[in-house]
Amino acid sequence: MATRILSGVQSSGNLHVGNYFGAIKQHIALQELPDSERFYFIADYHALTTVQDAGDMRRNTRNVAVDYLALGLDPEKSTFFRQSDVPEVLELTWLLGVVTGMGLLERAHSYKDKIAKGLKPSVGLFTYPVLMAADILIYKSNVVPVGQDQVQHIEMTQDMAGYFNQTFKTHVFVRPEARLSDTPKVPGTDGEKMSKSYGNTIDLVMNEQELKKTIMSIKTDSTPVELPKNPENCNVFALYALFASDAERDALSARYKAGGMGYGEAKKMLLEKVVAYFAPYRKRREELLANPGYVEEVLSQGAAKARALARVTLDEAKRACGLL
Ligand code: TRP
Repeated sequence: MATRILSGVQSSGNLHVGNYFGAIKQHIALQELPDSERFYFIADYHALTTVQDAGDMRRNTRNVAVDYLALGLDPEKSTFFRQSDVPEVLELTWLLGVVTGMGLLERAHSYKDKIAKGLKPSVGLFTYPVLMAADILIYKSNVVPVGQDQVQHIEMTQDMAGYFNQTFKTHVFVRPEARLSDTPKVPGTDGEKMSKSYGNTIDLVMNEQELKKTIMSIKTDSTPVELPKNPENCNVFALYALFASDAERDALSARYKAGGMGYGEAKKMLLEKVVAYFAPYRKRREELLANPGYVEEVLSQGAAKARALARVTLDEAKRACGLL
């Protein structure tokens, strides 16, 4: 059987360079993996834990859809849909919830981090990992490409699959494995991990002017121009390395170490790279924005396909519980 790959992306704001190198680039590249099939979805029900304005929700969802398609998601190769178009996952969330201990959820780093950042500890936020497990298990996914911050959620999913199978003496759920992208942590403009919640992002939709302003604001140390600099702990260099070829990266590294080059110049080089790298994306994005009917069509066809599969698994799970 073909390997089934699944991942979700939260529609909680503009996509940024960290999202791209941490997840999206890998999602797109996996389209070329032989003997595999893909399910990618916009996790709008998850986003609802933090985005609680209808206009923002609609805008974010449309933007993520357009961005994924513009960045190379091919509806011929990937089933692409909105999570909320498959209501079966919510039924499965309940079935998983009854075999999931409070303790498991209480140990979730991402929940604790969100509370620490000041988010209201809602029931939805607390049971977020159960909905995520339902997303994964309902399609019997084998591989889940995610960033490091989601690995614990995949481990929890493995646990929930095991509890359910054991409790109800069934084999309905397949054990999924996380797959990490090979991109190390992508720094934001302040050197922390790039994240919307830290306000330190370089967004994919930024035009050249905005990119310039953002890139020029990247935090560096105060080594004077003439002195040698250490590329290893420079945010500008780390970002440049993501876009550059190995040879270009080594050349910039040598210039850092030689001294005589200021951070301003490195920032200009980074700016050029970012602008060029995302130029085709920006063009395709404009075309898609002018054609909302097409985007809707892709999502609804994707949902029909996903839903048919979800229904089968849900019925198996219900039967295992004595509900069918
Ligand atoms: N929690 C994931 C994130 O924030 C998004 C997500 C929801 C997801 N459901 C998923 C990822 C299922 C992988 C599989 O990035």
